[in-house]
Amino acid sequence: MNLVNIKNQFPIFSKKINNKDLIYLDSSNSSQKPKLVIDRLNSFYSNEFSNVGRSVHALAVAATNNYENTRVSVQKYLNAKYKEEIVFTKGATEAINLVASTYGQKYLKEGDEVLITELEHHSNYVPWHYLRNLKKVKIQFAEIDENGDISLESIKKKINSNTKIICITHISNVTGAVLPVKEITELAHSKKIPVLVDGCQGAPHLKLDMQDLDCDFYAISCHKMYGPTGLGILYAKKKWLEELPPYQGGGGMIKEVKKHNITFAELPNKYEAGTMQTAEVVAFDQSIKFIQSLGIENIMKHENELMNYALDVLKKNNSVKIIGNPKKKGAAISFTIEGIHPHDIATILDEDGVAIRAGHHCCQILHEKLGIHATARASLGVYNTKDDIDQLNSSINKCQKIFDLK
Ligand SMILES: Cc1ncc(COP(=O)(O)O)c(C=O)c1O
Repeated sequence: MNLVNIKNQFPIFSKKINNKDLIYLDSSNSSQKPKLVIDRLNSFYSNEFSNVGRSVHALAVAATNNYENTRVSVQKYLNAKYKEEIVFTKGATEAINLVASTYGQKYLKEGDEVLITELEHHSNYVPWHYLRNLKKVKIQFAEIDENGDISLESIKKKINSNTKIICITHISNVTGAVLPVKEITELAHSKKIPVLVDGCQGAPHLKLDMQDLDCDFYAISCHKMYGPTGLGILYAKKKWLEELPPYQGGGGMIKEVKKHNITFAELPNKYEAGTMQTAEVVAFDQSIKFIQSLGIENIMKHENELMNYALDVLKKNNSVKIIGNPKKKGAAISFTIEGIHPHDIATILDEDGVAIRAGHHCCQILHEKLGIHATARASLGVYNTKDDIDQLNSSINKCQKIFDLK
């Protein structure tokens, strides 16, 4: 399938930004939303709204069914074994906090080690950091090589008898480096160590199969998958969700509450305390349908071709330094231009309607390792085209002229 005119399905692309057509190159941060998803949110609130899992009136029953239908869609999309392995959360950040908190509480003790990598987003470091203070747990960092890759070897080097969990990103949100997650999981499991994958940048861009990947936990950010904000998913193998304690306490996650004892609800309700993101979950079903209507293989091919094109174009500009040169690259390119601060690049590009991100992208460990404070990042979504990359390039050239660098 040729992915053309996808922008037509996204209302935002009919708007002018700074009087220019929007060139949206910030999808690693959050993707734009197709009309299908926006309409579903609107129609749910307008015609069908009710909270889920509580009342027995018609609206509540229909809303609960729709909510649970999305769980089944996600289960099928991820090829998870059971629908109970899909837990809705506020975002990927909450999904990782859920695991760090409950796994930390139950299994970690002084001297135990959590192995992460130098590529991790703060969301896959800070939740583990809390356990340093709480439980005197150590954090080890697998190191990147000169290309910015995390190899199986670099993980192997940091595993020892104290390693109790390995937590790795699927794709770096800075360099786009794709990690050998399946191989790392095989290695970890051979040593009886569970693996958590931060799938924020993997889920929108890769074909996922939880049973093939075999990781224990996979955290997803729905707003990066053409879905609503405020919604994430934790995939976790059923045995973990059964073994681990609940994360938050409140309504919906209990079976029986007595003055001296509380029992908890069956999976997955045990992990979904309080009123959930009802409309967002219902609408996320349309995001999955949108991705399926295009085909994830076609999306991967399209984004891959576009990424190679972008690299070719940007590499012709000698002043543009691309950060990292990973063997397999996802949909993000971070770069610097000598003499121009990334925030100035982003501000000048914005005048042309080109939306990129500048900063440390919540990866200060990586930036420190690379000896830089900030980078500019262009990241792709299914709606991007070669024309977008050409506009990015010409706006970068304009930026260099403004700074007298051309
Ligand atoms: C690699 C990575 N991990 C975690 C997050 C946090 O995700 P969320 O916004 O869903 O909490 C992001 C978002 O930028 C990310 O790129």
